[in-house]
Order: sequence, then C-alpha cells, then structure tokens
Amino acid sequence: GSEADSGSDSSGNDDGTITMGFAQVGAESGWRTANTKSIQETAEAEGIELKFNDAQGKQENQIQAIRSYIQQKVDVIAFSPVVETGFDAVLQEAKAAGIPVILTDRAVDVEDPSLYETFLGSDFVLEGERAGDWLVENAKDSDVNGDGTINVVQLEGTTGAAPAIDRAEGFASKISADDSIEVTASQTGEFTRDGGKQVMESFLQSDDSIDVVFAHNDDMGLGAIEAIEAAGLEPGKDIKIITIDAVKDGMTALADGKINFIVECNPLLGPQLMDLAKKVLDGEEVPERVVTDEGTFTQEQAIEALPQRQY
Ligand code: AHR
Repeated sequence: GSEADSGSDSSGNDDGTITMGFAQVGAESGWRTANTKSIQETAEAEGIELKFNDAQGKQENQIQAIRSYIQQKVDVIAFSPVVETGFDAVLQEAKAAGIPVILTDRAVDVEDPSLYETFLGSDFVLEGERAGDWLVENAKDSDVNGDGTINVVQLEGTTGAAPAIDRAEGFASKISADDSIEVTASQTGEFTRDGGKQVMESFLQSDDSIDVVFAHNDDMGLGAIEAIEAAGLEPGKDIKIITIDAVKDGMTALADGKINFIVECNPLLGPQLMDLAKKVLDGEEVPERVVTDEGTFTQEQAIEALPQRQY
C-alpha cells in the first residue's frame, strides 16, 4: 500500500478522533440498507466521525463526494464503487493529498493498485460459482418443462458493477459443465425489486419455456416473484429461482418455497472496515485483500436461520 499519513499523529486529528468520508452506492437493495447501517453503527460505537454520502447509484455523484472529502481533509476515505472503471483520476487526487483510500464491498479497475490501501468484501466470482454449482447439481429437478433443456433467464446487477460482472462470470463457468443448461436471456434489473419485476415481466411475455431465474440479488428475485405470480405461475415450482445476498426478505421467500436457493453475501462490513481504517492510519501493514466469510442456504437452512437473522 501507499503511505497513509505524513503527519506525526497518524491516528487522526489533534484530539485523536478519526474522520472517515464514506461514499456509498445508494439504497438500491435490502443488502445495501444493512451495509449502511453496519457502517454507521460501528463508526458511532467506535467514536469515528463519519461523513456519509449516498450517490443514488450515480458514479458522478460518488466522484463528487470523494472530491469533497479530499477538500475537507478527512483522515481516511472509504467507498463502495458504483461501477468498476473511471475512478483513476479522483483516486490520484486522494493520493496526492495524502489521504488513504479503502475499498469496501466492490472492486475498482485502476491501472495503479497503490491508489488504494486494501479491498474488503466478498468474492463475487465464488458467489456466482456457488449458484452455478447448485443448478448443475439440481439440473434434473430444474427442467420444469421437461423438454430436456434448462432455460435460464438472468437478472443482472448494475451494468459495469463488480458484482454483476463477477457473478455472471462465475455462474457461466460452472453451468458450462452441463450442456442442457442454457442462459436464454440476460438483462440488468439494476439490483432493485422494481427493476427485477419489470425485466421478468418482459421475459415472461416473450418466452413461455423459462425453467430457472438466476437473479444477481434477492431484491431482483423478489421482484421476479411478483411478476411470476402476476402471470399466474407459482414461483419456486413452475419456475425455479436462485438469488444472492440472503437478506431477511429473501430468506423468508426461501423458507416459503418461492426461492429455491440463496448464496450468501455478507453486508455487515462495518467492524472490519473500521479496524482496517485504524490500522492504516497507525501505519500498520494491512493485507491487499480481505475476503468476507459466507455460505449458502437451502430451504431447510433458511427456516432454521430466520429467527436469528438480523437483516
Ligand atoms: O455489491 C453488493 C451488491 O450490491 C449486493 O449483492 C446487492 O444487493 C447490492 O445492491
């Protein structure tokens, strides 16, 4: 990583308080809401002054927020990039100002890796692979129409965002093991419930042989459920549904049999983020990559986990 702070008091302001500027993607999903809450609550509990910006899903807003954090001379900047590319210039500005940057949740695609200290978040390729593995293992049951091919429609996340790119890649790499599985349509639903519903409505209008929905997050899967029910079909039975996240609403749908399998993506990044920020500001070495621990859920596992589910 690059040099964190050139001053003698490396752990924040004169009074020792750390100020963090956090540039969030938006409030597009249940996952995002839980993520924001985790960051805000942990900052408060640890006495870290948090400046928070919601970019409403727009990269230009996010770049503006980061610029304003540089101007305000915060101690550390953390952000979850809306998309992967286009952050080189603003990150160079942060580096020139001597302000360390931590990526949370999503990766950026920049030429110079020293533009950020570390990247904390899930392995999105692995998440897509887990979804693909489940489908390959459950291929027989997933051929709902019984015609020998498993027609999958994919509801993609935000175009250009790391989780959308990586989950599609991981999923494709695993389903290629079975020639009968085919992705027949794939379109972005912007990681929102409304987006998932609208795209699913149009998929259902143009194709009556859909066996499986692979949604890049729970919210789009929940939107797809609404569209499937409105079309007079039974989600989870007439059309199988695989999603990613495992937020409460998704887990409830899984427990009810409307979703068939969920790959977990952990939004509770606050504690690890604050810990990394303190270490970076104290001049301690931090790993370039910190991957969050997560699993998967079947219906039975969702029923068991739901009572303790916090988000
Ligand atoms: O970057 C994480 C993804 O973004 C979550 O899976 C999705 O729900 C969110 O909007």
